[in-house]
Amino acid sequence: MHILLLGSGGREHALAWKIAASPLVTKFWCAPGNAGIAREAECVALDVADHAAVIDFCKTNAVELVVVGPETPLAAGIVDDLTAAGIKAFGPSKIPAQLESSKGFTKALCTEFGIPTGAYKRFTNAKDARDYVQSQGAPIVVKADGLAAGKGVVVAKTVREAEDAIAMMFEGAFDDAEVVIEEFLPGREISFFALCDGETAIPLASAQDHKRVFDHDVGPNTGGMGAYSPTPLVTPAIHDAIMAKIILPTVSGMKQRGTPFRGILYAGIMLTTQGPKLFEFNVRFGDPECQVLMLRMMSDIVPAFLAACDGQLKNFDLRWHPDSALTVVMAAKGYPGDYQKGTRIDGLDDAAKVDTVEIFHAGTVEQDGAILANGGRVLNVCALGKTVTEAQMRAYQAVDRINWPEGFCRRDIGWQAVEAEKAKG
Ligand code: AMP
Ligand code: GLY
Repeated sequence: MHILLLGSGGREHALAWKIAASPLVTKFWCAPGNAGIAREAECVALDVADHAAVIDFCKTNAVELVVVGPETPLAAGIVDDLTAAGIKAFGPSKIPAQLESSKGFTKALCTEFGIPTGAYKRFTNAKDARDYVQSQGAPIVVKADGLAAGKGVVVAKTVREAEDAIAMMFEGAFDDAEVVIEEFLPGREISFFALCDGETAIPLASAQDHKRVFDHDVGPNTGGMGAYSPTPLVTPAIHDAIMAKIILPTVSGMKQRGTPFRGILYAGIMLTTQGPKLFEFNVRFGDPECQVLMLRMMSDIVPAFLAACDGQLKNFDLRWHPDSALTVVMAAKGYPGDYQKGTRIDGLDDAAKVDTVEIFHAGTVEQDGAILANGGRVLNVCALGKTVTEAQMRAYQAVDRINWPEGFCRRDIGWQAVEAEKAKG
């Protein structure tokens, strides 16, 4: 098969690594890719926002499957355009992609199909939003309706903070005409992933992200500083409740509406005293959760993508490695704020020699044989282990062999699982 992957982050490097391992693949490209992805696929300098150019490339090169990594092209309708051109594409089309690109769309779906979520209201002007916040009090959550690269959500501890967030969002910080104000959900936060074919969904292994930039979960929110799989927080009972109350009703609701969801459904869920409640959907793999899932997935991923595209998941089975996987994100100092690009990274080959370690590139370029940082999140240092504790030890052993003075990472990725493993003895 000829396959084209779209994207350039660590998620896409992990996907590229997994796709390249499939015996079904004869030719494999990635647009635009990065220095790490270039080891797995031929990187092509295509502008992914230019759908006509992507279609043209697919036709010229007889591409039989396009796999879309990030949310932006999904929200822009790239799957609709590829499908209309007769090219198979993995990922939701534009309307179901609104599960991520519009908070209001998701909230309305939850109401229509009884999916548990926080109480909420949608607003199109600042005054009504402010009045509502004053009537509800704090803590309360203010969300811009559209895609905002993780920056559109403010969990306000005070009414004042909520008012400031409303002012910022309506002043066009996110160029948005709508804000959702949501009940604050106390509890532990988990991510849940399912592969969907429009009719049915099969759960992927569980994974846990670390959103805050610094150790002990402090500092600003990021795209994710590390992840591990499986997570002890998702017990079998919680797993079943999430499938029955959140994932399957969403898939059947979207089908009933005539806009079936195909692709990866990624639910952000709060484990509350009243059970799991949805606080957001994403419509693609998590980054860096994807990296640990790919390390643990034993099945060939290409037939899974094809089955999802073709509505054939009903009798499909995915097999997972029993070992745990963990990834540490190495980011440029300053991230998620301003950071430097173009700094040199050494020691990667040596680091990759640590037992079970796999290093995925999230934001790198190669220049005259040297690897340079080219983004905020730059490397994902991943490892497997019999336990999360063992995977963590190996990942940090590899991190310590990387020589990159301008980079940093958290030193406590996997702490919840490590604590749970210690308690179990
Ligand atoms: P998001 O950008 O949608 O991933 O949201 C950022 C973070 O805000 C999430 O990871 C949650 O920790 C938090 N969050 C979102 N909605 C709620 C809510 N209703 N209650 C409490 N925390 C929330
Ligand atoms: N790791 C969080 C995300 O992919 O949105």
